[in-house]
Amino acid sequence: MKNILILPGDGIGPEIVAEAVKVLELANDKFALDVQLSHDELGGAAYDKYGVPLADETLDRARAADAILLGAVGGPKWDTIDPALRPERGLLKIRSELGLFGNLRPALLYPQLAESSTLKPEVVSGLDILIVRELTGGIYFGQPRERLVKDGERMAYDTLPYSESEVRRIAKVGFDMAMVRNRKLCSVDKANVLASSQLWREVVEEVARDYPEVELSHMYVDNAAMQLVRAPKQFDVIVTDNMFGDILSDQASMLTGSIGMLPSASLDANNKGMYEPCHGSAPDIAGQGIANPLATILSVSMLLRYSFNEVKAADAIEQAVSQVLDQGLRTGDIMAAGCRKVSTAEMGAAVVAALKNL
Ligand code: NAI
Ligand code: MG
Repeated sequence: MKNILILPGDGIGPEIVAEAVKVLELANDKFALDVQLSHDELGGAAYDKYGVPLADETLDRARAADAILLGAVGGPKWDTIDPALRPERGLLKIRSELGLFGNLRPALLYPQLAESSTLKPEVVSGLDILIVRELTGGIYFGQPRERLVKDGERMAYDTLPYSESEVRRIAKVGFDMAMVRNRKLCSVDKANVLASSQLWREVVEEVARDYPEVELSHMYVDNAAMQLVRAPKQFDVIVTDNMFGDILSDQASMLTGSIGMLPSASLDANNKGMYEPCHGSAPDIAGQGIANPLATILSVSMLLRYSFNEVKAADAIEQAVSQVLDQGLRTGDIMAAGCRKVSTAEMGAAVVAALKNL
């Protein structure tokens, strides 16, 4: 028996997670996965219930679980609370407490959505890249960080630290992913300016010696941002630090038409993981039943693949999603001429129906 902890979170989180759970429950029956689901709160919902964005008892449950499925956290409701208690702090804390340092963010363009991208079809068609983002170090966690008043004016600073071991373990994830894909890895940094990036590049070069089959290149992050828009298919696997990976993966998502299509996995050293869509809680469309649940449904597929090695079930979910797109069903974010606009729940139901018939 494997235990999956479900954390719906805030905004559209509960809406999209409800659909993903339906898919997961069907996969459980159909493929005899032997999983059991439990539910708890994270983010603003946890702040409302427990007074903190990640309660100790939730963290204990997360530690005990075999995998975690998360919606998204945050929203204007919590904008004015103590910054230390903001929903996003709960997310950062669960990632760091569980040691989920390896964040896999595939950006895959479904051929059915080639028209949804704002880029020319020839630039993005066939796009299939994987961004490996370091998730528990760097500037989002670095100390000291402070706001202060100096010489009568407000100032603030953050710190961007990386240790050798932190870089080595994420570089290994990048190379391992390159080995099972096309043996091409691009490490993205800002080594022309930042000391942390100079160490990053040095350590990536050292790890490369263990992977002679992988073609390694280095790119500065500003150029990488440009190249991602100019000629994204030059990339296969990208490995980069926490903040650069955050920004580049959102950018890459738009190549595929919508951030509502992109799943992610955050893994520890033993492939225990938390799985979530790349997007946030989308307060602008929350409560309307129009959010795209496919990123979360595809996160279930990643969960079954990476944490449980249930390849057949994982493949089947991806195939069901592809069939639903073939049927011309689209939520608003991926709507195109000649397609039928559906709600979050209709999209979820269509994936369930397709999976049932596979
Ligand atoms: P966002 O990703 O929530 O939304 C950006 C835009 O994409 C919005 O126009 C939204 O409507 C749209 N969008 C996002 N997901 C969608 C989906 N499934 N279907 C259709 N459209 C979708 O990013 P934003 O607006 O910057 O942040 C909103 C809140 O989410 C903030 O509180 C932020 O801190 C939080 N956030 C949480 C994350 C997480 O939980 N992992 C990640 C990013 C942001
Ligand atoms: Mg982001």
